[in-house]
Amino acid sequence: MWIKLKALSSILSHLLIVIALVDVNQRCYDTGNFTRNSTYGKHRDLILASLLPNVSANGGFFTASIDQNSNKIYALGMFRGDSTPNGCYTGLNASIQDLIASCPNRKETLSWGGDPPCLTRYANRPFFEILELQPTNAGYNTADITSILTQFDTIWESLMDRVVSC
Ligand SMILES: *[C@@H]1O[C@H](CO)[C@@H](O)[C@H](O)[C@H]1NC(C)=O
Ligand SMILES: *[C@@H]1O[C@H](CO)[C@@H](O)[C@H](O)[C@H]1NC(C)=O
Ligand SMILES: *[C@@H]1O[C@H](CO)[C@@H](O)[C@H](O)[C@H]1NC(C)=O
Ligand SMILES: *[C@@H]1O[C@H](CO)[C@@H](O)[C@H](O)[C@H]1NC(C)=O
Repeated sequence: MWIKLKALSSILSHLLIVIALVDVNQRCYDTGNFTRNSTYGKHRDLILASLLPNVSANGGFFTASIDQNSNKIYALGMFRGDSTPNGCYTGLNASIQDLIASCPNRKETLSWGGDPPCLTRYANRPFFEILELQPTNAGYNTADITSILTQFDTIWESLMDRVVSC
């Protein structure tokens, strides 16, 4: 990551924010476990496999669920808007593989970050369109923006306006 930062140090500072997201953050929730060959395990594999083609095909955001009596599973895949379909596919696959390896038997997991950055999440409870304030993750960029402060403020305000209206 440091090597990339140095290599890109001459590029506009907002790009460095992207680099800061290269770290992958994962959370394996302790809200229940499943065994590999259980119905939940099979549904988990099925739903994660369905995210891969569908996230790219749907502009970078896709949710899926399997609702079968006691074996419900909900999954979400998301990409940052400037990812290419190809990068999206590769990044999401890497994120899914990492999540399976890091949280092999957890019923609820979350991963965000990576290069290109994406978010992958699944759980045995509905979470679509529900506001959750945890987990949080803050990062900061030490680049000097004094010389482009006006430009930075314009972009920042426009971004915040769009976020608020979403
Ligand atoms: C789930 O499994 C992990 C080990 O992989 C264990 O540490 C944890 O306590 C288990 N959680 C529950 C709720 O059984
Ligand atoms: C899961 O199923 C596969 C194939 O049916 C079998 O080879 C494997 O031993 C099973 N694993 C567990 C943990 O039961
Ligand atoms: C994902 O896409 C495939 C083919 O593009 C489709 O068959 C499948 O039903 C989709 N999955 C979901 C969960 O909608
Ligand atoms: C996802 O990544 C794994 C591990 O790198 C690879 O084996 C697999 O073929 C990839 N899947 C797709 C659909 O590209």
